[in-house]
Amino acid sequence: MEPTTCEALRLGIDIGGTAIKYGVVDTATGNLASPIAQLPTPNPATPDAVAGALRKLLAEVERWDAALPPDAAAGVAFPAIMRHGTAHSAANISDEWIGMDVNELLGQALGRPVNTINDADAAGLAEASRGAGRGQDGTVLVLTLGTGIGSALVVDGALVPNLELGHLEMGGEKAEARTSAVARERDGLDWTGYAARLQEYLAHVEFLFSPELVILGGGISVRHEEFLPHLSLRTPVVPAQLHNSAGVVGAALAAA
Ligand code: BGC
Repeated sequence: MEPTTCEALRLGIDIGGTAIKYGVVDTATGNLASPIAQLPTPNPATPDAVAGALRKLLAEVERWDAALPPDAAAGVAFPAIMRHGTAHSAANISDEWIGMDVNELLGQALGRPVNTINDADAAGLAEASRGAGRGQDGTVLVLTLGTGIGSALVVDGALVPNLELGHLEMGGEKAEARTSAVARERDGLDWTGYAARLQEYLAHVEFLFSPELVILGGGISVRHEEFLPHLSLRTPVVPAQLHNSAGVVGAALAAA
């Protein structure tokens, strides 16, 4: 017998620099309806290699018997400027993606429609509505510190998509080249040294956008006690709450 489907369930997939995370989300509540699973992001992350990884992922999801509505779109969080399913940048992924219809390619791999959204926008939507920004009105700025710096601006619950604040130039360099979590490791910075770079970046962004709340996400946010106390800004700065599920949940919400 076919499992009963739940109309609100969606598959969410978050394609990151090192891992592809995925899970089933109840989009009526924003809660996970499965554990978050992951597989390594292929290296190099070319379109063919990523499509292959998604076929593997699908085989695993089919084993879960997840009661997904058969033709419902899967949500994919992708680390590029995404407009109408097409990638318009490729900062930390293969250039082959630029100009590609990502919805079409990944939709073929998954055998269902796909709705792609920028990875930080996905995480930001989830954090602002269901995580650390729950109940906050006005302008919420979510920054993800990882391989690059992702940014999402949510104003009274509505996302302003494709903000690329990791690419702000500061001192002749892209902000993410100096201030991402990967830059901290690459440059061997201790927490005080890293907090100094973060302070400079956040003060600039705060001046430009005057948000009500800044949420810091990305893997490094679990170590927030090491760097948040060193920051001094007018705006409250809080760690993300959804951790590694934010991209998956946000991608699923955007697909619903
Ligand atoms: C990309 C963004 C992405 C961020 C986080 C940046 O380099 O330009 O599109 O959201 O990295 O992955």
